[in-house]
This record gives sequence, C-alpha cells and structure tokens, in this order.
Amino acid sequence: MSLPRVEVRNGQKVLLVDDKPYILLSGELHNSSSSTLSYMEPIWDKLKAANLNSLLFPVTWQQTEPVEGEFHFELVDGLIEQAKAHDMKFGILWFGAWKNANCSYAPNWVKKDTDRFLRAEGEKGKKVSYFTMFGHKVPYTTLSAFCDATREADARAFAALCRHLKEYDTDHTVILIQVENETGMLGSSRDHSDVADASFNSKVPGKLIEGLLARKEELVEDVRAALDQCQDGTWPEVFGAAADEMFMAYHTASYIEAVAAAGKAEYPIPMYANCWLVQGKQPGEYPSGGPVYRAMEVYQTVAPSLDWLAPDIYIPQFVDTCKKYTKQGNPLFIPEVAMHGGAPGRLIYAVGHHHALCFAPFGIDDLGQQADTFLGQAVGMDVTDKALSEKMDPATYARVNELIGGLTPVLGELYGTKDLDALIREDPDRRTMEFGDVAISAVFEGPMIQQGGGALLAARVAPDTFYLLGLGCMPGFASLDPKRPYFEYLTIEEGAFIDGVWTVSRLLNGDEEHVRFGAPTLLKVQIHLFD
Ligand code: DGJ
Repeated sequence: MSLPRVEVRNGQKVLLVDDKPYILLSGELHNSSSSTLSYMEPIWDKLKAANLNSLLFPVTWQQTEPVEGEFHFELVDGLIEQAKAHDMKFGILWFGAWKNANCSYAPNWVKKDTDRFLRAEGEKGKKVSYFTMFGHKVPYTTLSAFCDATREADARAFAALCRHLKEYDTDHTVILIQVENETGMLGSSRDHSDVADASFNSKVPGKLIEGLLARKEELVEDVRAALDQCQDGTWPEVFGAAADEMFMAYHTASYIEAVAAAGKAEYPIPMYANCWLVQGKQPGEYPSGGPVYRAMEVYQTVAPSLDWLAPDIYIPQFVDTCKKYTKQGNPLFIPEVAMHGGAPGRLIYAVGHHHALCFAPFGIDDLGQQADTFLGQAVGMDVTDKALSEKMDPATYARVNELIGGLTPVLGELYGTKDLDALIREDPDRRTMEFGDVAISAVFEGPMIQQGGGALLAARVAPDTFYLLGLGCMPGFASLDPKRPYFEYLTIEEGAFIDGVWTVSRLLNGDEEHVRFGAPTLLKVQIHLFD
C-alpha cells in the first residue's frame, strides 16, 4: 500500500489512505489523555463504539526527547498497537515548541536553558507577561520563533519521530501529522527581542511579496491595500498597521516549515498547521502569527510542506469560518470544533458542502458529557455561545459517523464535483441547493427540530438517483427543467451501507413518502421529472 497522501481530484485536495478516499470521522482528545497507554485503553473502546474511524491526539517533544539526544518512542508504538487492535487510525499532534502559543510542551532541558533557547519578549527585555484567569495572575511565556537553536532542536526531534514512524508504522496507522499547535504570540502583537527587532527593521523578503501578489485576489483588504502602496521596504513600510502580525506570521510559518520539511524528508505523509482563530480586535489578543484567515497566504507562500491550514472552531460563526478556510484551494479540515448539540449537523454540512477531510469535536473522550468550558475561555473558546448549553447526543453522533463512514466510497468519488452538497439549519440564507435540473430544499424549523442543528446532505450518483442524509429537517425536490417541470418520487429506500453493500431497511411510501428526518437517516431516492 502507498503512504497516506493528498491528491487533487476534480480540482480539490482529497486524502487517500490505503489508496482510497478517506474522511476523518474523528475527535480530538484532551491534551493529557495520550500521555499514558493505561489512560488511553478505555478511550479506544468508547470511541470505536461511537463509530469514529480515527482520533487526533498529542505526541509531545517533552515525552519524546526528555534528555537531549535520547529519543523515546515506546509510547507512540504502544498507541499504534492500541489503534490497530481497535481497527482505527490516528493523526499525531506534534506538540513541539508551541501549544496554544505557549511553550509548555518543550522538554525541561529546553525550558531551563533560556540563554540557548531564547524566549519571546512581548515587551522589550521581558520574557514573561501576565494575564488574569479566574482572579489568578497567570504567567505567560513562550519560545521565540527567531531562535535558530530552538528551531533546529525541534526539527531534529520531529525528524527522529518521523524516521521512527517510517520504520515502525508499516501498516500506516498514523495517517497525518499536525506540526505544532495553535502557534503565534499572546499578550503582544510581536516579539520585541533584539533579534526580532533587527529583523523587523530590515527589508521584507522578496519571496513573501511575490507569493502574496500571486495570491492577491483573496488577500484581506488591509493587506492588499498596503501592498498596493508599497512592495519594497521594511515591515512597517510595506505593511503599515498590519506589520506586526504579518512579520510574526512570516517567521512562525518559516519555523514550522523548517520542522515540517525535516519530518517530510524522513517520512512524507500529510502535514498541516492549525490555528486559534481571530478573536478579539488586536493580534496578541489572539495569537499573533498563527495561520489565521488574514495570514493564510503568508503560510501558503512560506510553508509549502504543509498540505493545508486548519481552523479550530470554538465560535458560533461556524458556517463563515468553514467558507473562509476553503480559499486558495485549501481543503476544509477541522481538527477541533466545540462539542455540543450542533456538532452532528455540522459534520454532515462540512462533508456535504465543503467536502471536508476531517471533523473532530474537541475533548471527544468526554463524549456524553456537557462540553467543558472551565478552561475553554482561557484558550480561545467563546463560552457565550448558546449552543454550548446543549450536550452532544452520543447516539446521534455515532449514527451520523456510521452513515457517513459507509457512504465514504460514494462521497470520495464526488468530492470536488457539484454533485455533492449540503444545507445546515444555522445558515438561514441558504435553504436550497441546485443540481443542474433539480433543486433540493430543506425546512429545518418547527417540528423538524431535533438536536441543536439540522442538516441535509445530497449526493447525486445518477441523473435520477440521490442519496440523502438528513437530520432534523424535511427535504423537498423541485424540477428546474422547463421541459419536464413536474417532479415525483419513484422509490425511496431507507438504509445504510453495511460492509460496503447498500442494505435496505424499509421501502418508504404512502404516509412515509412525505419524508421527514428526525434522527440521522440515509435514503436512496429515485426521482422522475416529467411534463
Ligand atoms: C485549543 C487547543 O488547540 C487545544 O489543545 C485545547 O487547549 C483546546 N483549545 C481547549 O478548548
């Protein structure tokens, strides 16, 4: 079998695992869950039962290289064996120098040697700043993106991990790697250390200007306007008010590229970077320099070893965020999303409308419990989001995973085409989708309401045949062909793919022809347009 890889099909990046299209029906574990095999043991059973096909969890620099030059892979090997025993895959989150803009996962020998491994300075000369959390004064410190020693040590450890995976993981249980986690700098819009200051007052590299101009159409307005004014000068001269963030993004992306490239040279499986979204008005209120929407083109220019950029979505603006993260050919991959009642519908929508590669509620080990917002607000969760008050129903989520899992070979063929689309209740501006001569609409209101959000996915597999995956809605068909203006159903089969075979549980007709989706249900419908 070939390595897990990304291929462009129908103009869209798809993920291939064992040479077949793969959608990560996944969840991200809490940060500390994968630190021991014993803690992980029951988690696999629980999430396998929820029909997840994969998990995302950290493998940390701290545990991989506790003493400089001494690498330990027993934990990752054990995790691979556990995953195989459960017939699941996983993606590694490489918690290297940064995790949530912080350096808490760097090994102790890195943390202790602040002369060799420089800290960022939010204010000149200050390696630590403070923020308040539930009344406590909490110190914030992070490694500097401008330190060659840190970058080289991080890249060396990551390359060692990738080399080991190549030797040990011959069944390809690890299918992809996230390089670092939610990078950027908090508390200040840029690093003010001497090395950073010198770089800030030097010329913006020509390759960045060229890369941004090549992607000019989709640049955010203020960055595009700045480039229209000046394309040759120092960071403040070229980028004006956006200089600090663009500067941090360039250097953070360059650092991540060095780490990712070192890993890919050993073992070229898909790699990506994730981001803490823009929340708050100023960079520094959210991590400055991470792959936020404003900085995607910087990352695309500077970090070609990354196969995509991924949003961690803890804000109510889910639909808008998904759209933003599909610009410039970036495939939608959601490694973290708030786990609440709306998540099952969001999974259906992300796969159907954006042909997503991954959907992973965060803290999935807590499946069945209320989302934990205790620490959430300190790490970017919008705790005012009303949707958080509704718990994600495990049975609903498990069923959606099961149905999408079975349908994946069909979906994989349709990714990148106009024959696959979806609607979601939380986007009230879109209630109809068009498939050439057929329109499919959905009503989500009133008696349809199930969990926090309904959704409807439609996949056209023949001129007269669709699969419909619905939750909490009523679908309606209409002809768009003036020569055949009338519509009727021929057959409506309710069922699922079981071991790859479409298996009918009921043939719907009579009263049931007025299809209404409550719990997640998959239908195969044959339609007839006539005059
Ligand atoms: C985003 C981070 O990437 C995760 O590691 C975790 O801290 C969550 N936030 C918690 O909400």
